[in-house]
Amino acid sequence: MSIPQIPETAPFTLAQRAWLNGYLLGLVGTSPSAPSPLALPEIQNGSSPVKKSPLLVLYGSQTGNAEQLARRIAAESARHGYQSECLELDALPNRWNSGVEDYVVITSTWGDGDPPDNAAGFWSWIQSETAPSLSGRRYSVLALGDSTYSEFCGFGKKCDARLSALGASRILDRTECDADYDAVAAKWIESLWQAFQANGHGGVRHSENPDSRPSAQASSNGSTAPLVFDRKNPFPARFLANRRLNREGSSKDTRHFEISLAGSNLNYVVGDALAVQPCNFPRMVEELIHALGLVPEIVVPTPTKGETSLRDALLTHYEVTKPPLKLLEELAARKPDVPWQPWLVPDQKSELERYLYGRETIDLLMEAPNSGLSAVQFVSLLRKLPARSYSIASSLKAHPDEVHLTVAVVRYESHGRLRHGVCSTFLADRTPDNAPVPVYVQTSNGFRIPEESGRSMIMIGPGTGIAPFRAFLEERRAIGAVGRHWVFFGDRQADCDFLYQEEFEAMKKDGILHELDTAFSRDQAQRIYVQNRMLERSAMFWKWLEEGAHVYVCGDAKRMAKDVDAALHRIVEQEGGRSAEAAEAYVRELKKDRRYQRDVY
Ligand SMILES: Cc1cc2nc3c(=O)[nH]c(=O)nc-3n(C[C@H](O)[C@H](O)[C@H](O)COP(=O)(O)OP(=O)(O)OC[C@H]3O[C@@H](n4cnc5c(N)ncnc54)[C@H](O)[C@@H]3O)c2cc1C
Ligand SMILES: NC(=O)c1ccc[n+]([C@@H]2O[C@H](COP(=O)([O-])OP(=O)(O)OC[C@H]3O[C@@H](n4cnc5c(N)ncnc54)[C@H](OP(=O)(O)O)[C@@H]3O)[C@@H](O)[C@H]2O)c1
Ligand SMILES: Cc1cc2nc3c(=O)[nH]c(=O)nc-3n(C[C@H](O)[C@H](O)[C@H](O)COP(=O)(O)O)c2cc1C
Repeated sequence: MSIPQIPETAPFTLAQRAWLNGYLLGLVGTSPSAPSPLALPEIQNGSSPVKKSPLLVLYGSQTGNAEQLARRIAAESARHGYQSECLELDALPNRWNSGVEDYVVITSTWGDGDPPDNAAGFWSWIQSETAPSLSGRRYSVLALGDSTYSEFCGFGKKCDARLSALGASRILDRTECDADYDAVAAKWIESLWQAFQANGHGGVRHSENPDSRPSAQASSNGSTAPLVFDRKNPFPARFLANRRLNREGSSKDTRHFEISLAGSNLNYVVGDALAVQPCNFPRMVEELIHALGLVPEIVVPTPTKGETSLRDALLTHYEVTKPPLKLLEELAARKPDVPWQPWLVPDQKSELERYLYGRETIDLLMEAPNSGLSAVQFVSLLRKLPARSYSIASSLKAHPDEVHLTVAVVRYESHGRLRHGVCSTFLADRTPDNAPVPVYVQTSNGFRIPEESGRSMIMIGPGTGIAPFRAFLEERRAIGAVGRHWVFFGDRQADCDFLYQEEFEAMKKDGILHELDTAFSRDQAQRIYVQNRMLERSAMFWKWLEEGAHVYVCGDAKRMAKDVDAALHRIVEQEGGRSAEAAEAYVRELKKDRRYQRDVY
């Protein structure tokens, strides 16, 4: 039998490669132990002899990034003289009057500059006329976002401005973090403790108790602690299956992937997502190097201090498709006649977005030939290649040591070029048998099955939005849940796009799935969507709601989730005999009670 090789382009650290080689050779068992240069020690509470000041660490988070940082701050707080509590922003309206003076706010931005779901209640409260004065309170905001969105860190900015307008004083300026947020966030956290210290708050900083810092690194006697696989240190997982879910005749390519987590110690809960760290499309990398007139072997810095060849850097380290603003500006400075030059001013943002739609970095380089950019200059203008998230489509109870995904493969043509979505085509086309795929689990505490197994669940998931509901149903079957289940699924054509048709029909037959409504948009002249089906069955939908059902939505954020939300409001108005305002309040209450949860992208 031939031993599978790790492609040179696979984005792993040296330690991971070493472990992985051992793993593939059978030299290490299913419980890997190797020193990880990247696994950061988790800092835990130390004991402090001084009285601690209260601190509220508040987060607004959809997919767990901000929440994780908030929990880290809360865990560190005791060492800095604080007794902290970590809460989602939506909890603040009930807690602002509890005598706490110091607040830390960490929030992401979703939609188009909007709050994450667990900060929406806070946002309407703090904007209302009845919002309290916050004078005497101190705070600082860490905003997470992604600079490829036009409203970069929009909600964090709005939050900061509103807290200040209500009289709270900024103890440290807001920091905005892009997709690669680790270093910037770590620096802000360090400055935060210094700022509190300088303002005479918190207890006296005492020397750190080394016993309170568990280390994932090698200990002094040379033995090693278990390797932790996470965002900074993804697990090199192997594929078990890569199967097309659409039948012949479909215009789509949606895949079912099964990935082995054996040996990783990774666990997930249904509702979580799996992040995949992809490689770029090799042909695109060759084209970029050619367009720049550079040689692939030239050495350039990686985003994380190391060095590598230009080819490897562009394949595994940098984002080379979505054009970054810094590159647009640099090219325009070198070649003032580039078409986007007039739109580089803030009031022309939408013109620039229109121009960039369907264009990638390669198109811009072609518009600015002989720019004279060196390899080092070029990579300094690029962002780190971000991982992509996928809603987990399996339950560990049904598939021990496995994780399943449902992925729409992105391929389209624009401006005369065939385009390949970086991660979906990496998964679908560029992971040869047994080649490892770097993954880690992304916790989504805001997307969970009901704690009570008797509660009913309504799940609305067109397209790949069906993924977590396959997982929910597998889990509910495994735990013997007695609540009822209702799925709304939609896609283009019934005969070739009914994802997991046999599985869902079997679930209906064996009784775990009580209601299954489908909307096939392109089987008739007029498009029919899941929200049309919801409205057709509004009386029953309302009955389930009134009986305490939980509602879940997963899939496209831009159009579907908004339209489904509008349909939900309409059902409450129509069937519940409520005004638009009363329906709004009803839905707000559902969210507050965690009975309306969304995982949209
Ligand atoms: C919490 C979460 C869960 C998710 N779960 C899933 C899931 O279960 N399944 C799933 O498939 N995806 C899921 N996604 C989306 C996924 O993370 C990726 O965004 C998706 O796979 C595309 O990534 P890519 O690297 O293949 O494409 P990219 O290289 O990122 O390209 C996608 C971009 O290409 C452009 N584009 C696409 N089509 C066109 C077009 N026709 N014309 C012009 N431009 C176009 C758009 O700018 C788009 O943003 C999820 C996302 C999040 C945040
Ligand atoms: N480039 C490609 O080839 C390609 C193909 C598919 C998906 N994608 C991308 O991949 C992502 C995920 O795709 P997906 O397979 O999960 O599903 P999707 O493309 O979002 O479509 C799933 C179903 O939802 C329907 N839909 C469209 N607008 C809707 C709305 N406002 N309300 C309710 N339903 C609506 C679609 O109908 P209609 O499409 O008939 O309107 C389709 O029947 C999408 O965001 C899309 O950008 C790309
Ligand atoms: C559908 C979607 C919409 C987003 N919208 C924005 C946005 O408008 N502005 C922004 O800066 N970031 C935006 N982001 C990026 C997130 O804020 C970023 O990924 C953040 O790290 C998520 O943190 P969380 O896991 O704590 O929610 C968006 C991400 C997704 C998937």
